[in-house]
Amino acid sequence: MVETVFLCPSEALQDSALAIAFEVSYFGQIEAAFVVRFQGEVHAYLNRCSHVPMQMDYQPNHFFDSTGQWLICATHGAMYDPPTGHCRMGPCRGGLIKIAVSEAHGEVHWHTSDKFQPALSP
Ligand code: FES
Repeated sequence: MVETVFLCPSEALQDSALAIAFEVSYFGQIEAAFVVRFQGEVHAYLNRCSHVPMQMDYQPNHFFDSTGQWLICATHGAMYDPPTGHCRMGPCRGGLIKIAVSEAHGEVHWHTSDKFQPALSP
């Protein structure tokens, strides 16, 4: 059954600006994830580069490059398309792993699936 999990108020996400970090259980492993706004729409991904499976932000919650058009991995510069997570350039091995999100009534939620479940509190 798909559930929705509150992420943040809508106003917390500005276009091509800082992300909001959260955690999910991905196939049973707790993983870092992030949500951003790009051209008005919200998009969420695991915080895991496709090149080497490590977190991408060079400073906490900084994922956009200086143009605000691409999500960039700080380690070797892989660049991803914000709406799809597809690799645009750099040493990617595939794209980012997308998490379904929705926005309504001033709130952003992510959606559980067979892969993604809420991370349980310790
Ligand atoms: S780890 Fe992200 S580009 Fe190499």
